[in-house]
Amino acid sequence: MLIGPFTQILPMTGMPLKGALQDEQLPVIHNGGVVVEDGKILAVGDYKALQQEYPDQQLQFIDQPMVLLPGFIDCHTHICFDGNRSRDYAMRIAGKSYLEIARAGGGIWDSVTKTRVADAVTLAENTVARANRHLMEGVTTIEVKSGYGLDFDSEVKMLRAIHQASLHTPATLIPTCLAAHMKPKDYSGTETEYLDWVVSALLPVLKAESLTNRVDIFIEETAFSPAAATSYLQAAAAQGFAATVHADQFTAGGSEVAVATGALSADHLEASTDKEIQLLAQSNTVAVVLPGASLGLGMQYAPARKLLNEGACVAIASDWNPGSAPMGDLLLQAAVMSAAEKLSAAEVFAALTFRAAPALQLADRGRLEAGMLADMQAYPTNDYRDILYFQGKLKPCSIWKNGETVTAL
Ligand code: NIG
Ligand code: FE
Repeated sequence: MLIGPFTQILPMTGMPLKGALQDEQLPVIHNGGVVVEDGKILAVGDYKALQQEYPDQQLQFIDQPMVLLPGFIDCHTHICFDGNRSRDYAMRIAGKSYLEIARAGGGIWDSVTKTRVADAVTLAENTVARANRHLMEGVTTIEVKSGYGLDFDSEVKMLRAIHQASLHTPATLIPTCLAAHMKPKDYSGTETEYLDWVVSALLPVLKAESLTNRVDIFIEETAFSPAAATSYLQAAAAQGFAATVHADQFTAGGSEVAVATGALSADHLEASTDKEIQLLAQSNTVAVVLPGASLGLGMQYAPARKLLNEGACVAIASDWNPGSAPMGDLLLQAAVMSAAEKLSAAEVFAALTFRAAPALQLADRGRLEAGMLADMQAYPTNDYRDILYFQGKLKPCSIWKNGETVTAL
């Protein structure tokens, strides 16, 4: 099938994985087309040239100005949960502190309580609904964490629900075990004992059931220490798990562990200092910034500009969760952050596509070129600059997942 003509195609090809990008480096194909076969891209280029080269293709004719981009990859979400935390949010905007909110029964534990009593079907339905909303906003691949279960049955229930959800949404869902979100309040042992229990009792079962091959840990004064996290990540790696880390959100220290243990990504980074920025820039660990958490908590953004200037691979993800990032609009968050941090359009689109792919070890998406999955989104405009200019209010009007048009879900 030949799809086009598009006024502009941003294939996101030929740009480096790391470091600053200028819009002059952003390849733009004018009056372009895409040939799709078996869910994959066969060719991308000038529409008329493709028509001649592939005369027998079925045509999907685009009859209005549109700008085509790769589908976005959201490499950090917590969209499997039940309940909501609007009470936390009301307290936060009224000026209450983290501790005051926790003492009133808020925080991560509140979502754990609500998620533990939800059944697997409800959790899967909740996840599908959020994944489909994301997909209709151009996000074709979505990482989804557990971490609101925090006991054996509830963590397994969450990861089974995420698997079930993946069968009922066209979006790709990538599951991650976040049993190390916090030490559960009803666990009487130490943090090390809890993590040892996850390693010995939970991870082998997740592996045996093929529920996930990824782990995450929240390194923070209120969660797990860098030392305990290091042992945990090493033990998980020995079982074949890839890792990502909630790092430097309120205090620095997590990204150093992420880099030292070879984690795929270090996420948050609002509190990263020059030392952490250097470590990340010199590593292959993707620096994932989460503007949705900064907006939800009313705190500073991660130093994305500095990270790029020093040479890091920067991805932007939504962190969509019931507590700190309830909005879940990835494009809006990236656009708003780009104005504050001074990120070029090339840097923002890279952060949402081919620079997010390695955080999930995905080599088959994030760029529009031959051999890649035909995961694509088109915006109703003739100028790609409109997309960030409208700060998330210009939504894609057409989405393709594996080459299939996604209709309203
Ligand atoms: O990424 N930082 C820790 N975890 C989540 C928040 C989860 C919650 O508050 O429920 C985050 O922001
Ligand atoms: Fe998170």
